[in-house]
Amino acid sequence: MTETLTSTAEGIARAAELLRDGVLVALPTETVYGLAADARNGVAVAGIYEAKGRPSFNPLIVHLPDVEAAKRYVEWSDEADRLAQAFWPGALTLVLPLKAGSGLSSLVTAGLPSLAVRVPAHPAMKQVLEALEGPVAAPSANPSGKISATTAAHVLAGLQGRIAAVLDDGPCSVGVESTIIGLTGERPALLRAGGLPVEAVEAALGETLETVDGAEIIAPGQLQSHYAPGAAVRLDAVTVEPGEVLLGFGPMDCDLNLSPAGDLTEAAANLFDHLHQLDATGKPISVAPIPDHGLGRAINDRLARAAAPR
Ligand code: TXA
Ligand code: MG
Repeated sequence: MTETLTSTAEGIARAAELLRDGVLVALPTETVYGLAADARNGVAVAGIYEAKGRPSFNPLIVHLPDVEAAKRYVEWSDEADRLAQAFWPGALTLVLPLKAGSGLSSLVTAGLPSLAVRVPAHPAMKQVLEALEGPVAAPSANPSGKISATTAAHVLAGLQGRIAAVLDDGPCSVGVESTIIGLTGERPALLRAGGLPVEAVEAALGETLETVDGAEIIAPGQLQSHYAPGAAVRLDAVTVEPGEVLLGFGPMDCDLNLSPAGDLTEAAANLFDHLHQLDATGKPISVAPIPDHGLGRAINDRLARAAAPR
């Protein structure tokens, strides 16, 4: 049985208690729902992989309540400081050198010498982190390779019975995962486009980001087929084939529209929910072209993986 909690004082305390007990709780963040475990508890972290059916141990993001907490786990730097000042709490994850003696389960980093850290902006998530007084490892709360969850109902559709609880605090406001910036190399690198536009990161750093090619990344979100609905997905559709459902963008006739007004922020917030809904029709999904700037980059990245050969 999976309990449903709400963001009351009781719900927050219960979520923290379950995490302390070493079981899994799906928690809302502003990007997507996360499948959370206490990052210091190896058995709990292993449970994440089991619940998601993730085929291998890929490194996880550690969520912390504030910058000070993050500094306990990673070697901080000027660039990290600039980005954290500008965008935390928020949809930004930083990959930095792992500090020795961090006390984290080595499953969190999959044995890497670096660690991904994020300070989320979601109030309920922040309260759980403060109540736990510890680091929380959390990938997106969906079965491996499937569409990410932006509502508690999405979480339950994929993970019901496999996790102890879900804390329901409504739909996620951003709707796509965090932007991941690598700060372990010579220059800052974009490891995953996400809910914070790349342009904003570059403006804050005063330099362009390096893009790391897929082969170097051990990120599951970088696997070709990911975020995949059951049926086929066809991109940049200008016409609809018989039997298809159309996911639109901007003013047009379609089955569901990411943003009739052509707003990329609204489209990101709707992306996974609309994919879940169209997936439920069982029909092949065609998707209208989406502009490739701002949050459009993260949207197109997710759509390309949803459409990739499986
Ligand atoms: O918005 C998000 O980032 C959500 C919410 C729940 O915070 N989390 C999320 O986690 O998307 P996940 O596990 O689905 O994706 C984390 C990505 C993976 O692609 C992983 O490989 C990468 O971060 N990652 C984690 N640690 C890393 C590291 N040390 N070096 C490079 N990539 C890393
Ligand atoms: Mg994911």
